Amino acid sequence: MKEIWVLHGPNLNFLGIREPSIYGFETLESMNQRMKAEGDNKNLSIQCYQSNHEGDLIDKLQEAHQKGIHGIIINPGAFTHYSYALRDAIASISIPVIEVHLSNIYQRENFRHASVIAPVCVGQICGFGSKGYLLALEALK
Ligand code: DQA
Repeated sequence: MKEIWVLHGPNLNFLGIREPSIYGFETLESMNQRMKAEGDNKNLSIQCYQSNHEGDLIDKLQEAHQKGIHGIIINPGAFTHYSYALRDAIASISIPVIEVHLSNIYQRENFRHASVIAPVCVGQICGFGSKGYLLALEALK
């Protein structure tokens, strides 16, 4: 069975609490459950991981490479906009990575319009809420 890792960056553990007018009321746990259910339908093994720390996410990307994981979906949170370290980590591995954002980052503050991560990903999905993760799963499949 192909293995997909879903990496959630900083503050995404606060979904449901955090700015619900932008991110809604659904919790990360509930989104992860739906991802896993969809993985079952698609015969994909899904593992979800969240960290508020840049280095942890980099470690996870490197671990995915070592373990031969087949695809990665990442919502890098605010690291999207400035983390060259995360970008370098993605560029270092040959696993297809899809960047997902719940909100449409291009409709928001100027600093959110740039992603330093997108150029090293196979694609980016944003603005569809938690459905974006399911779309990313479909794209990886
Ligand atoms: C986000 C968008 C980022 O700009 C923000 O910092 C987040 C969430 C999103 O999913 O819409 O933490 O990645």
